[in-house]
Amino acid sequence: MAEQAGQAGAGADEGAMFPHLFAPLTIRGVTLRNRILSTGHDTVLPEDGTVNAALIAYHAARARGGVGLIVTQVAGVHETARYTAHLLMATDDGCIPGYRALAEAVHGHGAAVFAQLFHPGREIMESADGLLAVAYAPSSVPNERFHVMPRALTPRMIDEIVAGYAAAARRMRAAGLDGVEVVASHGYLPAQFLNPRVNLRGDVWGGDAAGRQRFLREVLRAIRAATDEGFVIGLRISAGEREEDGLTAVEALGACVALEADLDYVNVTTGTSATLGGAVHIAPPMAFAPGYVAPDAAAFKRALRVPVFVAGRINQPQEAEAILAAGQADMCGMTRAMIADPEMPGKAARGAVDDIRACIGCNQACIGHFHKGMPVSCIQHPETGREMAYGTLPPAVRRKRVMVVGAGPAGMKAAVTAARRGHEVTLWEAGAQPGGQALLAQLLPRRAEFGGIVTNLLREVERAQVRLRRGVRVTEEVLRDEAPDAVILATGARPHVPDLPTDGAVQVVTAWQVLRGEVRPGARVVVADWRCDWIGPGVAEALAKAGSSVVLAVNGLHVGEVLPLYVRDNIAAELHRLRVEVRPYARLYGTAGNTVFLQHTPSGEAMEVEGVDTVVLCLGHRPVDDLADVVERLGIELHMAGDCLAPRTAEEAVFEGLKAGVAV
Ligand SMILES: Cc1cc2nc3c(=O)[nH]c(=O)nc-3n(C[C@H](O)[C@H](O)[C@H](O)COP(=O)(O)O)c2cc1C
Ligand code: SF4
Repeated sequence: MAEQAGQAGAGADEGAMFPHLFAPLTIRGVTLRNRILSTGHDTVLPEDGTVNAALIAYHAARARGGVGLIVTQVAGVHETARYTAHLLMATDDGCIPGYRALAEAVHGHGAAVFAQLFHPGREIMESADGLLAVAYAPSSVPNERFHVMPRALTPRMIDEIVAGYAAAARRMRAAGLDGVEVVASHGYLPAQFLNPRVNLRGDVWGGDAAGRQRFLREVLRAIRAATDEGFVIGLRISAGEREEDGLTAVEALGACVALEADLDYVNVTTGTSATLGGAVHIAPPMAFAPGYVAPDAAAFKRALRVPVFVAGRINQPQEAEAILAAGQADMCGMTRAMIADPEMPGKAARGAVDDIRACIGCNQACIGHFHKGMPVSCIQHPETGREMAYGTLPPAVRRKRVMVVGAGPAGMKAAVTAARRGHEVTLWEAGAQPGGQALLAQLLPRRAEFGGIVTNLLREVERAQVRLRRGVRVTEEVLRDEAPDAVILATGARPHVPDLPTDGAVQVVTAWQVLRGEVRPGARVVVADWRCDWIGPGVAEALAKAGSSVVLAVNGLHVGEVLPLYVRDNIAAELHRLRVEVRPYARLYGTAGNTVFLQHTPSGEAMEVEGVDTVVLCLGHRPVDDLADVVERLGIELHMAGDCLAPRTAEEAVFEGLKAGVAV
């Protein structure tokens, strides 16, 4: 059982703005310096299933930034736990040295560290050799999302897995970690045992609630027996999996109450990995309100005496403070908040809240990378996950006069980076407002938060004392007058408008024109979406909400094909509710009269949409790079970043801005 400490502990003025957030919490003798938690998240940094230098550097950055507790990513406790090709494993003593080095690095910066212990049961995504693995679950009940039909575990295998948890916990203790967290959230194995619609067993491991809780009880007791009284044992659980056949809030809370004597804390989340709709909650995108899981956590807090943690879009210290002050939870997971800004806790403690680079819930480089099997990062802060290469900026060898042309995300990041290295930097923007295409992206429905990237970068521009020149178009004449030592070109892109066969009866406009309010689309609209990103679906959603009947013709397999999965599925759900008709495999061919001709890409056959008033083109962009030749002709050092190099997304823009700022 846990005891809670009082409010004392933070330094004199430290944390004065957020007294609840910076009050220490003691759990089983382990004192957490504040209530900020980095929840377990698979970074994909480890390369061979063991902790490596990149993972240590990643967590050291967060510990240095002031986090109270780090829970490390899931670690498999049994060979059958391999749910991705890159899972960290805790199945033999070979894992101990890596975890030991990680614990030392985190402790060295004053934070505590627990490890997540994991078995996915039937939630198997992929295997290292590309073949389908044999998945094991309490019963042979299929998984919808990964199309897995699991085998029912034998009692012998269950014993083996329970022993696997205990052995893994013993290794974590040997490595010097402060505790472990058993992952019973998101529909993974322990949740499958708890769920009467997934656990259909008639033996001692199933049946009534006590039978279904038996697996977790055995796991928790085996862990305690394998470690010692000073070791923290927590449980992560979904307070309702938000799916028809998912574990309910009542079942989850009932299990926590029944198991409380064997637990030191409960970490509340929501959703399930088992379905597309439930999985959105694993890393909820910006369409979800900040801290939306807190009311669920509050129900657990009312029923339990052990501390309750919560996570889910708690992006700012103000939000965390309000949750703690309202008594909804004892600790706030702020995971993506620290992927975006590892120094967030320290800034909050100093009251420098305007300096925090707030996460915008885009999911692109954090969980988006996870789903691509790539290391974690952040579109706003590409240094995350690249601590070894970009953890410290090399000072400029010689102070140069640097002109950065274009104040979109690429230009702003380049300017900030070059200035921090010691260069004299001026950032030139032809328009009235810095921000580039992010200014348009924030106009898409339920994507207003995307504008945060502009606010955050502008604040960094200010802090780095970059001179900003707005409303000036840089020409050859300006370049000659300024005679800079180096130019970083970040002039962005403009919409690609192909030469379409059309007789003019249908209004043909670009997404940019719609978003800027320059045109008024008609009652029946075809949105032609070649990029398969958020622009086409976003425009479709906006027009449907404005009353148009919309066909979204995607030149891909499905809506949002290139988007992070949880963003994609959230958009798909909204378009379905709005009755937007999505046509996959659709290449825009042309228009005649009020008919729009599409071509089915695999078969080449025609598809027609009749009675159309407007076609909105979302067909990608073309670089604006005219100045590159001029700079080269003038013999000035040239670097290019972002869409002017090749039109892509804000993520590439910001990362290339960083690289250009380092290279200059
Ligand atoms: C890249 C990434 C990987 C994740 N992997 C895990 C995981 O291994 N275990 C887990 O319990 N949750 C995982 N999650 C969910 C997070 O722990 C957390 O609940 C989620 O990010 C919501 O909190 P936030 O809004 O503070 O980011 C992951 C999230 C992200 C972004
Ligand atoms: S990539 Fe987007 S969601 Fe992920 S941490 Fe960065 S801002 Fe937040």
